[in-house]
Amino acid sequence: MVRSKIAGIGMYVPQHVVTNNDLLKYMETSDEWIQERTGIKERRYAHRTDETTTTMGVEAAKTAIERAGITPQDIDFIIFATLCPDYYFPGCGVLVQRAMKMKEIGALDVRNQCSGFVYAISVGDQFIKSGMYKNILVIGAEKHSFGLDFSTRGRNITVIFGDGAGAVVLQPATNEGQGILSTHLHSDGDSAEILAMYNPGTHANHWTPEKLADFDDGEIGELFMSHAMIDNAQLFPNMDGPAVFKKAVVKFPEVINEALTQNGLTIADLKMLIPHQANLRIAQFIQQKLKLRDDQVHNNIQKFGNTTAASIPIALCEAWEEGKIKEGDLVCLAAFGSGFTWASALIRW
Ligand code: ACO
Repeated sequence: MVRSKIAGIGMYVPQHVVTNNDLLKYMETSDEWIQERTGIKERRYAHRTDETTTTMGVEAAKTAIERAGITPQDIDFIIFATLCPDYYFPGCGVLVQRAMKMKEIGALDVRNQCSGFVYAISVGDQFIKSGMYKNILVIGAEKHSFGLDFSTRGRNITVIFGDGAGAVVLQPATNEGQGILSTHLHSDGDSAEILAMYNPGTHANHWTPEKLADFDDGEIGELFMSHAMIDNAQLFPNMDGPAVFKKAVVKFPEVINEALTQNGLTIADLKMLIPHQANLRIAQFIQQKLKLRDDQVHNNIQKFGNTTAASIPIALCEAWEEGKIKEGDLVCLAAFGSGFTWASALIRW
């Protein structure tokens, strides 16, 4: 059976470094609190007008495409994972097609938040396996800095997130045994509201006993986004941090073990685990639970914060650039996030 391999990988992070102390000018917080709870020291913020989720994705894609030894015109299909698209619609995929002057190929956006990149490469993998496409560009990118609550009210979320992008080119593997061995995708919508941005949206409080915004007043044309939503801070993401932590530390190890077991492999076979960079404490918990050595896990949330769909390709690219991943190595990508959704991919590099 044909397998997909990662033929090229790239990453892009904006130049502007924002330290924990820099956040003090907006909110009551401290370097000590942020580092102790999340491990984050600094993150990057995109340029206000010159950089978007798409442009950062394009920068990462240029490197990935070059490293794959092809040109943008060789790409057969684009898959773009993000939770902060340039437009509510259309998605970022078509903006990449335009920006990179690609052929009139298909472009698909994946909205699976922190698991978005693993879901996206799983989709790409199926197209390669079926023989439908030969060169698939998969991007994960986020410009979180535009959509966060920078007042003290939003500090439990805002301090965690950063901007950036990562990209890979998937191609059919040529070496026996090489490539994506399997992918594993899961969801549990029971906790959809625990980590979510409710508005703007069409829910009109349908799913929850409490009001997520006021839809009882106003004309039909005023319901999508209203002044009341702005005044009541209802246009920002929401997170029950401890609930996310509790579920994440169960589902991460579960989905990693699922991938290894399906392939008749064990933790000892793993050269590198690339966990979604949600929070250093979560990554450390998983490492401990799975009894992984320090050299078997790559974390970089300390420098970049949580970049959601971009975190895995950024960490994977960095680990590869540092020479920590070589041909033949077994690499596991694992993600958990809003939805809840969780996923893993096991790759023979
Ligand atoms: N600076 C200072 N104080 C803060 C901050 C901040 N940035 N944020 C919250 N606090 C305060 C709160 O106001 C609260 O104060 P109080 O006790 O006086 O009321 C106190 O710290 C504890 O607040 P909690 O929200 O309960 O904070 P917690 O200890 O749970 O830590 C955290 C928050 C780090 C998010 C934690 O819940 C966690 O690790 N959750 C895991 C989820 C996660 O990491 N999500 C990342 C994104 S989701 C994903 O990628 C899957």
